[in-house]
Amino acid sequence: MIPAQFIDELVARSELSDVVSSYVSLTRKGDRLWGLCPFHNEKTPSFSVSQEKQVFYCFGCGKGGGVISFIMEIENLPYAEAIRLLAKRAGLTVPEGEENDAFRVQRERVLRLNHEAARYFHDQLSQPGGARGASYLYDTRRLSKGTVTRFGLGVAPDGWDHLIEAMAEKGFDKRDLLDAGLAVDNKKGRIYDRFRDRVMFPIIDLRGDVIGFGGRVLGDEQPKYLNSPDTVIYNKSRNLFALNLARKSKQGRLILTEGYMDTIALHQAGFDCAVASLGTSLTEHHALLLARYTKEVVIAYDGDGAGTSAAQRAIPILERTGVTVRVLALSGAKDPDEYIGKFGRTAFARLLDRSENHIEYRLAQIQKQYDLSDDEQKVTFLRACAEFIATLQSPVEREVFGSRAAEAAGVSRDAMEQEVKRARSTRARREKKKQERKNLTPTVQLQPRDQSMRYQNIRSARAEEGVIRLLLLEPVLTEKVESRLHPEDFSSPLLGKAYSILCNRYRAGMSTQLAVLAGELEGSEISHLAQVLDRPEALEHSEQAMEDYLSLIEWETAKRSDRAQGEPQESLLAAQARFKEKKSFGGTSHE
Ligand code: UTP
Ligand code: MN
Repeated sequence: MIPAQFIDELVARSELSDVVSSYVSLTRKGDRLWGLCPFHNEKTPSFSVSQEKQVFYCFGCGKGGGVISFIMEIENLPYAEAIRLLAKRAGLTVPEGEENDAFRVQRERVLRLNHEAARYFHDQLSQPGGARGASYLYDTRRLSKGTVTRFGLGVAPDGWDHLIEAMAEKGFDKRDLLDAGLAVDNKKGRIYDRFRDRVMFPIIDLRGDVIGFGGRVLGDEQPKYLNSPDTVIYNKSRNLFALNLARKSKQGRLILTEGYMDTIALHQAGFDCAVASLGTSLTEHHALLLARYTKEVVIAYDGDGAGTSAAQRAIPILERTGVTVRVLALSGAKDPDEYIGKFGRTAFARLLDRSENHIEYRLAQIQKQYDLSDDEQKVTFLRACAEFIATLQSPVEREVFGSRAAEAAGVSRDAMEQEVKRARSTRARREKKKQERKNLTPTVQLQPRDQSMRYQNIRSARAEEGVIRLLLLEPVLTEKVESRLHPEDFSSPLLGKAYSILCNRYRAGMSTQLAVLAGELEGSEISHLAQVLDRPEALEHSEQAMEDYLSLIEWETAKRSDRAQGEPQESLLAAQARFKEKKSFGGTSHE
């Protein structure tokens, strides 16, 4: 457990906009800072930071919170790790308690174990047990010593427990090996090495930690590649192979490949900006990660059908982050590795320069599906093109590519232009309908985004939100509220919980900033509170506002209990009487 006082100090010393600025570029507009949201894909900024409230909130995806939540979310770290990272940043030392966070200990052991295992696999290259693997990397795959060292490649010898034995000597037990995904359980309590008789590719994250492995067979056996499962430190949809190296590249773009060997071959040929998604299709996380380091991504997937359709799926995901997407058209080889082996690095460089921008690529893909000598197919081809071109934001692009499609089909530019116009207005109509439908249900917008937090009583919940907002902004109000309002009076369990935490903290003299609640509430709960805090509140009249909120909550509570007890009106009347009696804090009861 990290002492609460320390967290208070840490939060006080971690200015939110400073921290956020190392990840998102922010511009001031009005009373807050704005930037592109790092948690979802967007082209116009809806991510805001309020320095006054020390809270971030994205109007697009609804993520929000204080400085701790921000780090947890963006670095994908559990609470205690986020605290450590922030502490390091602020130059503070985290006071370590006796009983250490079990999760952190496990993470650290797995990291150390992976590190040792990578070293072990690498060392095996010069051992008799690793001779075949070494020959595979150096001779068959033609890798240089430098490449093998730079990527930390290695070999897992043939046998059931070489690694287990070697790691046992270093003090790692069964549990550690299973946690790291380096060993597999045979269900009878015995474990054996996951990777046997394979060349090994360590996966290294941006901090330089070995977070997992891929292992390739030396021959044609199946499966060709075996990968670490997701573990406490490894999540394949959030990591890219070789990004630790490629992010330092000066080539001004990143090349995205499908495989370990493609990426390694590219690096060896001088294209040090190559990365690979690891046997999974590209996720939004991958795309955002890439966009953090480059403005242009060149997709260099395999030339086969699977590669082509994977590229088509990846394009819009990447596009949404605002990077320029180009697609490499491989021919004469199945993948970049083979291409460089066959035709050399200069040929690949030429290919790279000629790589199509994604619009050309998509149009070419559409064109492939039709026989343009057939009139009927020509018409459907033009429709399909128009529909795609209608999605382009830039009028110049629409014109350029519209003419190109028209040319391909041998129709006039004007005809194509009409077709695109029609497709655009159809789209616009559809969008408008969707928006109208949304606007018709205003109560939907008053509800928290997360279904599990839905309000049962919206009227009361709005007032409860007001109480929480005022307490976050003006903690001293707690003194007057505490005696009148109990956590059970809240119709929303989340807001009631937040209320009781805030009261307890206030009483203990601790900070009541939103940021410090990150240890006690879920990310989605914090996000919702950030939204609550984000709404305007007239602080000049905070006492009156609080009074209004309280009366409303009391009124709603009374209604609820009447319904429950079947004594209509009695407590309602009482509430009403109270409402009249003490119109404000400054009213009779305090004089
Ligand atoms: P490929 O089958 O295209 O392999 O798989 P490759 O990169 O050309 O490999 P070499 O040249 O034959 O050695 C592309 C990627 O898909 C994942 C791996 O990450 C691989 O690099 N993959 C492939 C697996 O995870 N498991 C498999 O069995 C095959
Ligand atoms: Mn290959």
